Amino acid sequence: MEIRLDLLPAEKRRKLDLEGGLPFGRIFTDHMFLMLYDEAKGWHSHQIKPYEPICLDPAAAVFHYSQTIFEGLKAYYGVDGRIRLFRPERNMARMNYSARRMCMPSIDEGFVLKALKTLVDIEKDWVPREKGSALYIRPLMMGTEAFLGVKPSSEYIFFIILSPVGAYYKEGFNPIKIYVTDKYVRAAPGGVGDVKTGGNYAASLMASEEAARLGYTQVLWLDAVERRYVEEVGTMNIFFYFEEELVTPALTGTILPGITRESVIQMARSWGLKVSERRITIDEVIEGAKTGRLKECFGTGTAAVISPVGCLAYKGKEYIINEGKTGPLAKKLFEELTGIQYGEKPDPYGWIQFVP
Ligand code: COI
Repeated sequence: MEIRLDLLPAEKRRKLDLEGGLPFGRIFTDHMFLMLYDEAKGWHSHQIKPYEPICLDPAAAVFHYSQTIFEGLKAYYGVDGRIRLFRPERNMARMNYSARRMCMPSIDEGFVLKALKTLVDIEKDWVPREKGSALYIRPLMMGTEAFLGVKPSSEYIFFIILSPVGAYYKEGFNPIKIYVTDKYVRAAPGGVGDVKTGGNYAASLMASEEAARLGYTQVLWLDAVERRYVEEVGTMNIFFYFEEELVTPALTGTILPGITRESVIQMARSWGLKVSERRITIDEVIEGAKTGRLKECFGTGTAAVISPVGCLAYKGKEYIINEGKTGPLAKKLFEELTGIQYGEKPDPYGWIQFVP
């Protein structure tokens, strides 16, 4: 498959402007990758072209019934000047998992990864060099058939856009405060909680807004059936470190299978820590916070990296974890993970792929 290149001349290309710091997801690079799908041709018209708005029919399926999936990964500028991707093949595989669940066509994972690397290479000057910053990569697919009946679209757009980013939370690597909601739920068994689809995020907004009004950065979701079991946080998976056990909720179908989550489990196990993927009740967490058995709590995600949680609010009370400070395990995981991503440390797990 050929990718048509329609690139801006050098004098029309913009430069990464770091004045005023790097926000998350507001600046976009000069070019994007795009391909189209229809039932007769399959995926076709693969191209890298200038970043620009997409023109869609107002009846396009995605506007009405939200048939859309996405991914998030990053390109890192290494200490040796090489650009690294972190486990991008896992994002490609998850995209196809999401596509299946949302009745969308699968992508050729190898080909799309090659297209992604070509795009990042073209935009390599946009990869910020400061540690902690990165080029965020957002692949997205949506149904575009103009039809108001409820059925899988017969036409799709897939694109990849790039955004140089700094920290996702204003707190950076400092502990955040989280609000445990038992009023709203994110995902129910049999639903699409383990799929990276826009609707999950739309459905989360009201709880996040209410939490933000009360001074909390994110929401911790409980299971939809009993509202007892911890699931995940708005944009990350969650871990609890008890005296001798690192616990994260098991992937029961309502939780996003995070790639950072998977990597943290692997690192911690390789250090000899006992890691349990199991159901964990909010009562166990609160009891641990009260007695001090809960040593640390942190979230994991591509955007959030490793994000320590210093305070949980539940049923009108605040519980402070590790005196509201970043704990040694979160720090060690952060340093190991970012060390591998920025090429400061060896990559014993084979997680890194280079661009080009
Ligand atoms: C990511 O961590 O890449 C995500 O997709 C979270 C995003 C919604 C900010």
